[in-house]
Amino acid sequence: MTLLIVGATGTLGRQIARRALDEGYQVRCLVRNPRKAAFLKEWGAELVIGNVCTPSTLVPALAGVTAVIDAATARAADVSSFERVDWNGKVNLIQAAVEAKIDRFIFFSILGAENYPDVPLMEIKRCTELFLKESGLNYTILRPCGFMQGIISQFAVPILEGQPVWLTGESSPIAYMDTQDIAKFAIRALAVPETGNRTFPIAGNRAWSGKEIISLCERQSGKEAKVTTLPLGVIRAIRQTFRFFEWSWNASDRLAFTEVLATGKPLTADMDEVYKTFGIEPKEIGTLEAYLQEYFSRILRKLKELDYEKNKQKEAQAAKQKKKKMMY
Ligand SMILES: NC(=O)c1ccc[n+]([C@@H]2O[C@H](COP(=O)([O-])OP(=O)(O)OC[C@H]3O[C@@H](n4cnc5c(N)ncnc54)[C@H](OP(=O)(O)O)[C@@H]3O)[C@@H](O)[C@H]2O)c1
Repeated sequence: MTLLIVGATGTLGRQIARRALDEGYQVRCLVRNPRKAAFLKEWGAELVIGNVCTPSTLVPALAGVTAVIDAATARAADVSSFERVDWNGKVNLIQAAVEAKIDRFIFFSILGAENYPDVPLMEIKRCTELFLKESGLNYTILRPCGFMQGIISQFAVPILEGQPVWLTGESSPIAYMDTQDIAKFAIRALAVPETGNRTFPIAGNRAWSGKEIISLCERQSGKEAKVTTLPLGVIRAIRQTFRFFEWSWNASDRLAFTEVLATGKPLTADMDEVYKTFGIEPKEIGTLEAYLQEYFSRILRKLKELDYEKNKQKEAQAAKQKKKKMMY
C-alpha cells in the first residue's frame, strides 16, 4: 500500500511518516520545500514537491497512491491564512483524491469544531469534515484535543528560562496526547475496516488546565514559573487590530482560538469505544506526567553536562594563567 502523507514536515505529520515507514508502508510525502524535508528522505520516504493550494501539483503526487493521510495546516509564520490552506487547499486535495480514486482518506480535525462558529479554524474544520463526508471517499476523521509537544514551547521552555508564562483567565482543561501516540491511531485506521466512514475523538487519559500544567512543570523542573494572566478583553482588542490589516489576518485568526480556551469547558472525550475499535490498549498511550518527566530529565541532564564543560574550561584557563604568572 502506498501512502501519501501531506504535512509530513509538521509536528504530527513527521510522527505519522515515521510510524508508517516502521510498519513497512511505502511512504510518499507531499512537501513544499525538499531541503526542509531531507530528513524524511533519509528515513526512506519518497518526496514529491507540491502545495495543497496548487491543484496541478496534486495530480502527480496522487498517482499510484492507495491512501492519503492529511496532517497539513497553515503555518503560523506563513502569510497564508487558514482559509487558504485549511479550506481552499483541503477542498483541492479532497477533489484530487476523488479524481484519483483513492481508497482511504484520513483527515485531522479538532474536537468540538462544531461548537465554535465564530472561531475561523474551528468553523473551517467543521466545513471540511462535511465536505469530506459528502465526497464519496472512504474517510476516517480523527479529532485530537491538543498535542503534548505544544506544551514544551508554551510552558516548559519559558519556565526553564525564567521567562513569563502566559495564561488567559479561565483556561479550558485539555486532554493532550503525544503526537507519537496519535500517529498510532492514524496508521492503525488503515488496517481496521471498521474505522471507515467514521469520526473519532482522540483524547489523552485526562484533561489538564494551564495552572495544573504549570504546577507539574514546576515540580518536575524544580523551577518556579513567572505566570502572567492576560485578560480575554485585551486579546480580543489585539485581534480586532490585527483584523484591520490583511497581512496580519493569520495572527488574528490564531488569536481567535483563545475563545475556545476561555470557555472553561474541558476539551476531552470518552475513549473506551475508540480504543476498542482501533484495537489499541489504553496503556500503550503515554501520560503527560511521563512525557514531561522524560523531557525535563533530558534537558536538565544536558544543562548539567554543559555546566560541567564550562567549569572544566574555566579551571583549565585559570590553571594556564597561574602557570603564566609563575613563569614571569
Ligand atoms: N497542534 C495541535 O494541538 C492540534 C490539535 C488538534 C488538531 N490539530 C490538527 O493536526 C494537524 C497537524 O497539526 P500540526 O500542529 O502537526 O501542524 P504543523 O506542525 O504546523 O505542520 C503543518 C504542516 O502542514 C504543511 N503545510 C502548510 N501549508 C501547506 C500547503 N499550502 N501545502 C502543503 N503543505 C502545507 C507544513 O509544511 P511546511 O513544513 O512546508 O511548512 C507542515 O508540514 C492539523 O490538521 C491540525 O489542525 C492540531
